[in-house]
Amino acid sequence: MFSRFDLSTLTSFDKIIGKWMTGNNIKDDLFYLPVRIGGVELKNPFVVASGPTTKRVDQLQQAEGSGWAAASIKATFNPVPYMNYEPRYRWLKREKLHTFTAEYRLDMEQGLRLVEEARKKCKEMVIIANYSYVHPDLNGWQEAARRFEAAGAQMLELNFCCPNMSFNVDVSLHESKKGRHSSGASMGQDENSVRLVIEKTREVTDLPLIAKITPEGGRIAEVSRVAYGAGAAAVCSVANRLGLPPIDIWNYKKPIYNLQGQNSMGCLSGPWIKPLALRDVYEIRRLVGAGPAVIGTGGVASWKDAVEMMMCGADSIGVCTQTMLFGFRFLEKWMKSLKDYMEQMGFKNAPDLRDLLLEEIRPATELTFWPGYAEVDPVKCSSCSLCVEIGHCNAIVMTDDGAQIDSELCDGCSTCIDICDRNAITMVENR
Ligand SMILES: Cc1cc2nc3c(=O)[nH]c(=O)nc-3n(C[C@H](O)[C@H](O)[C@H](O)COP(=O)(O)O)c2cc1C
Ligand code: SF4
Ligand code: SF4
Repeated sequence: MFSRFDLSTLTSFDKIIGKWMTGNNIKDDLFYLPVRIGGVELKNPFVVASGPTTKRVDQLQQAEGSGWAAASIKATFNPVPYMNYEPRYRWLKREKLHTFTAEYRLDMEQGLRLVEEARKKCKEMVIIANYSYVHPDLNGWQEAARRFEAAGAQMLELNFCCPNMSFNVDVSLHESKKGRHSSGASMGQDENSVRLVIEKTREVTDLPLIAKITPEGGRIAEVSRVAYGAGAAAVCSVANRLGLPPIDIWNYKKPIYNLQGQNSMGCLSGPWIKPLALRDVYEIRRLVGAGPAVIGTGGVASWKDAVEMMMCGADSIGVCTQTMLFGFRFLEKWMKSLKDYMEQMGFKNAPDLRDLLLEEIRPATELTFWPGYAEVDPVKCSSCSLCVEIGHCNAIVMTDDGAQIDSELCDGCSTCIDICDRNAITMVENR
């Protein structure tokens, strides 16, 4: 459906913000590494995941100008978002953790207008409508599907993931409000609700449906299987997790969020989430097999993270936090590095990377362990004693010549390697 990146389709706005993309065929090709999701070709695997960087048309234009293949617009709530505040975010650099408590959502008219305008102004990038409906009946889901299709959305992403709506209220135990609505992450843990919504939506549209399912509840793979069975073309995994960010214990009534009165759960995203997100993608892929599409999202902060996601089973890659912090233009570097890597490794197409780890990841019962022990290089050792303090180890002693390890007492766990700042310790394999 989509051809190679065609500079003639850029608007003058794109040309201003994307000066570096001047009439150069090599750069046109740079962003071309196609994947297919639900019958739609994306020119490369990279999708701007729904969030604060997809709520205005100028953002979508910048994303397109920077080579992104698709963007999922900021969640639209039908009828109106029942929680809607000015945003409160924190990016905790050291923890590599992003957290937010409050966020704007779009109402139906804003969402529809955004999709309509985006379709007029973004000729290459696939526009995905991300939305939710908060009442128990299913009419609103159908109505939203019909209206977004009419507005020009090319795919529909049903939001069964937002943890900051009813799930937040339920977890925070505000009894008076508990259970008033079931949306986002509360709904996404329940196969029946997910199945019904997808089946009903399927009745009114042929557009590819993406089910964005929460990892909360730990059943994302099972719920995904139900979503595919009901007619979803793809599952988007994974969204933010609900948790408490660091607390200032000296001033514990004051939250880390600026311009906010109380402590509260936050929606956590960013690199710290990646190991969990990889697991979810892997679990889904294992359970549903090779056919259905998976959009791997959560903590992707480099082209290498994207490769890991694909190796665990993702067809394409969603990125949100990274675009909030650094905009869209880093994709050019990612694409260059990804293509260099693929060339070095002999991979020709993006789908060649998919599932490579599936058979490699073994259950704990099937692992091979080799005997071995740790050894200290006395030249590098500064006698700092850090390794001697390791609580579970009685193999290391300090001598006049620095730390020494008794190979008979060493279990081979390798904690000391990670503790030593001088890289003075190595493992010796005893095969
Ligand atoms: C501030 C913020 C707002 C978000 N809003 C939405 C949303 O409206 N709809 C949605 O499906 N996901 C939303 N997300 C989730 C992201 O799309 C993404 O799934 C999640 O943040 C994990 O990816 P990341 O680590 O790349 O951010 C939001 C995330 C953040 C940080
Ligand atoms: S941590 Fe490293 S440098 Fe410090 S005593 Fe142990 S081996 Fe030597
Ligand atoms: S590998 Fe583990 S058991 Fe062996 S010396 Fe290091 S910390 Fe101790």
